[in-house]
Amino acid sequence: MDFFEAVERRASVRSFARCEIPGEDLLRILDAGRRAPSGHNRQPWEFVLVRDAETLRALGHIQGCIAEAPAAIAVVMDEAASDYWKEDAAAAIENMLLAAVALGYASLWVEGYVLRHEDYGKQVLGVPADRRLLAILPIGKPTEEPSQAQKRPLEEVLHHERYRRRPS
Ligand SMILES: Cc1cc2nc3c(=O)[nH]c(=O)nc-3n(C[C@H](O)[C@H](O)[C@H](O)COP(=O)(O)O)c2cc1C
Repeated sequence: MDFFEAVERRASVRSFARCEIPGEDLLRILDAGRRAPSGHNRQPWEFVLVRDAETLRALGHIQGCIAEAPAAIAVVMDEAASDYWKEDAAAAIENMLLAAVALGYASLWVEGYVLRHEDYGKQVLGVPADRRLLAILPIGKPTEEPSQAQKRPLEEVLHHERYRRRPS
């Protein structure tokens, strides 16, 4: 799939159908994550690929749809390694979301719920105390055609040459 089509088709999906995902597809998605830019190229990320149904069910206590997905990628960050660890994580996450779409899957950036249940998620995944569990990306096929949330139009967010405050 063309890059721009993947950008346009990417949407948050919160309901997944049963399906098999070949391991090589998951590895391609993860490879897109590790190729993301990072501050000073520190790459302070590690990823936990979860395919075990029991573990996915346990992660479903964080957000229900994780339990429905055939796989999930947990994003584990070393916050001591870089001042930019959150930005670095975001770059890796977006790469993986787009890679999933390009391969015909759907995903969701689960971070808000993960942060509320971080200790629980770390315990389920065996993440050590000195690492942060920042996000979990369930990967699967959507139960219905996904549609991206409404975005502000380009004319509203774009300034040419200089920032000009718009009348509100
Ligand atoms: C930092 C961040 C945290 C998010 N956390 C959650 C979350 O915990 N649960 C959830 O369902 N969606 C979460 N989302 C997804 C957003 O709700 C979603 O991207 C937004 O509503 C726009 O929809 P779209 O992805 O279809 O464009 C998160 C997105 C971001 C960027």
